[in-house]
Amino acid sequence: MSMTQSYNQKSLRPEFQAALQEALHHFETPFYAYDLQTLRSRLTQMQQAFPSAEIFYAMKANPRLGILRRLLEWDVFLEAVSLGEVHRAYRAGFKKTEVLLNGPVKTPAILQELAEIGVPILGLDSLADTQRVSQLLPGSRVLLRVNPDLPIATHDHLATGRGESKFGIMPDDVEKVLAAARRGNLEVLGLHVHLGSALSHLEDYHAGYAVMEQLYRQHGPFQVLNLGGGFGLDLDPASLAPSAIALAERLGAELWLEPGRYLVAEAGVLVSKIWGTKHTRRNFMLLDAGMMTLLRPMLYAAEHPVIPLYKGKKMQVWDLAGPVCESGDILARDVQLPTPKEGDALAILQAGAYGSSMSSNYLDYPRPLEILWNGLEWEVLRRKQSWEALFADEI
Ligand code: LLP
Repeated sequence: MSMTQSYNQKSLRPEFQAALQEALHHFETPFYAYDLQTLRSRLTQMQQAFPSAEIFYAMKANPRLGILRRLLEWDVFLEAVSLGEVHRAYRAGFKKTEVLLNGPVKTPAILQELAEIGVPILGLDSLADTQRVSQLLPGSRVLLRVNPDLPIATHDHLATGRGESKFGIMPDDVEKVLAAARRGNLEVLGLHVHLGSALSHLEDYHAGYAVMEQLYRQHGPFQVLNLGGGFGLDLDPASLAPSAIALAERLGAELWLEPGRYLVAEAGVLVSKIWGTKHTRRNFMLLDAGMMTLLRPMLYAAEHPVIPLYKGKKMQVWDLAGPVCESGDILARDVQLPTPKEGDALAILQAGAYGSSMSSNYLDYPRPLEILWNGLEWEVLRRKQSWEALFADEI
């Protein structure tokens, strides 16, 4: 958070911005608002870059049923990482053959419940995972996740392909786990690698692909090559596609991808109102959204562009403070914005991914409203959480 951010560096689709202005008359802030057309065009970019790939949207990025149902209509499958996400995927209408469940820990209770609701394709993350699945869900279709042991360049919390991370099977152990899977009557579709998230260096992908190529030559052939997600917002999928597609062709495997952020981040904004300003040694705007609504700035020092939904003359540099009693509850720093009046609103951009899905009820703030602009009207995807819902599970 170093450089002063000028608010006009990023913009929204004008029709969507006009719809947002109008939404302010009807809906209480804070709320998440999504633009269907942007979602559609991000998906189209991905599908055009990778025409031969099967896309498993990483639903952790944004799991609203209203979004999942659209993606189902558009022939996208889902990548899930918890039992709850599998339930949600089925509720949205996906079949078990259209859902891939990854994740490093699958307890016996989870596997038993999967047997009842329908076993999706399983991504196995360790020998223990493989042994348990072959014991409790023999016959499952699985992929083995590899840890490529590479120095992936991204935030420490987001690098999964480093040898130090908890994910995947080290290349030297693949043979042993593969043998266990086959002995255990699992149908091994192929290997999987997910290098990390918010990646912007093509070299990291190329290094990951090289590891996969070597493993396929050593242990293959396999039906599927799953190269994961992680595409940073500024990474053009078309620049990566030729090498990924060529690799899958050389290996005679179907290419699977798991993008999350790339599809939904730009399609969503967090809208918040400013309820005052104050001046300590810094200039603060006081917002009704905070770390409970959008955790990424606090957790990863993530920088989200901000645009005002009001007009004002005097420009100043501001920090955007949330209402939470923690000094770290700052949604953006050093943003250049016009001086607001009480009740003016602003939009925090690139909030469609890992915004709502990581929001919390900290301090008993209800989950915010989420709405989707479909080109004609606002659809409510999730209403603001009620007090009853907030307290319902406590006896
Ligand atoms: N596949 C696997 C196995 C993953 O673990 C993830 C993300 C994805 C695909 C999708 O990655 P994407 O294309 O969205 O980068 N909460 C963090 C992001 C955590 C990502 C975790 N895994 C954030 O707010 O930036």
